[in-house]
Amino acid sequence: MVRIQGALPDRYTAATHEQLHSWIAEAKATLGDRLLILGHHYQREEVMRWADARGDSFGLSRLAAESVAEYIVFCGVHFMAESADILTGGQRKVILPDLNAGCSMADMADLDSVEEAWEALAAVTDIERIVPITYMNSSAALKAFVGRMGGAVCTSSNARAVVTWALGHGDKLLFFPDQHLGRNTGYQLGMGASDMRVWDPKRDLGGLEEVDVKEATLLLWKGHCSVHQRFKVAHVDAFRAEHPDGLVVVHPECAHEVIDVADQVGSTDFIIKAVEAAPPGAVIGVGTEIHLVQRLAAEHPDRTVVSLDPLVCPCSTMFRIDAAHLAWVLENLVEGTVVNQIKVDGETAEWARVALERMLEIT
Ligand code: 13P
Ligand code: SF4
Repeated sequence: MVRIQGALPDRYTAATHEQLHSWIAEAKATLGDRLLILGHHYQREEVMRWADARGDSFGLSRLAAESVAEYIVFCGVHFMAESADILTGGQRKVILPDLNAGCSMADMADLDSVEEAWEALAAVTDIERIVPITYMNSSAALKAFVGRMGGAVCTSSNARAVVTWALGHGDKLLFFPDQHLGRNTGYQLGMGASDMRVWDPKRDLGGLEEVDVKEATLLLWKGHCSVHQRFKVAHVDAFRAEHPDGLVVVHPECAHEVIDVADQVGSTDFIIKAVEAAPPGAVIGVGTEIHLVQRLAAEHPDRTVVSLDPLVCPCSTMFRIDAAHLAWVLENLVEGTVVNQIKVDGETAEWARVALERMLEIT
């Protein structure tokens, strides 16, 4: 997906950290209740310190839906800002400080390839009995597709409830774009490997035989998160060898082999609660984005919180949001100029809202 963020004016690129922080503080104070800054747990500290609320993608979408602020500055990635615009019914101005803050996983499924998959499935099976489920990490166009076709959105904190709901409404699910969240949810619900097949959008009929499509309950789009796929069983083994009493908590975007050997699995909010619930002195190995792990370590000095992968990279798109971009959007708002507004077109928003609201009702 091509989104273009122009270069920031020199005022911001040449500013010191102190200047940026004082400009942000001043603009925030001037805008007062007209402004709500939302921060996803993967944001860096220089941004997160300004967030009025922090959360996982589900929690933030709820906060956006309930907000009465005129401006919602979403410190997260593009699909989150789109969801906020959809859930606020276009009543708020939702702003993403850097338009290039996308999500590589979300970009692994686009409307054309999902529509092609749908047509291919319709040729070999009863399409009326297939329920499409899209992970929150997807474009508004895909959420709209799902809304039109009777499906729902899910997040990492409610995938189990949404998949259970979908199984009550059809015989088969097409789950995109994250194969891992889909597979992990399938196993959680008692499915076996033979109930699930990977749908490769680059191949005819997803690279499957007709019989596979007919047999499968869960068709898993071949997408993944480049951050979470880095965690391996060997990391968990090494952590356990060093800390035999340690606790392993991972995000459900990790591969199933990793989930299998973890103690607890859940969304970013769940991971935070798991660390909070661990007793002082506990050692916790976490499988998720490094900024959250570092924040948990800093906020819980009486516990040892480490990344399971010592070489783990940050999410490069979340990392695009920095103090300079935040200062730039806020100072523009003070001047009455809205930059980087994320606006989903009316028809797409209408159907995407159907899919998002189904999720909110289910959960
Ligand atoms: P959460 O829904 O757990 O916040 O996860 C969002 C995300 O992008 C994880 O990679
Ligand atoms: Fe997307 Fe992965 Fe980054 Fe989450 S961590 S925003 S899924 S690329």
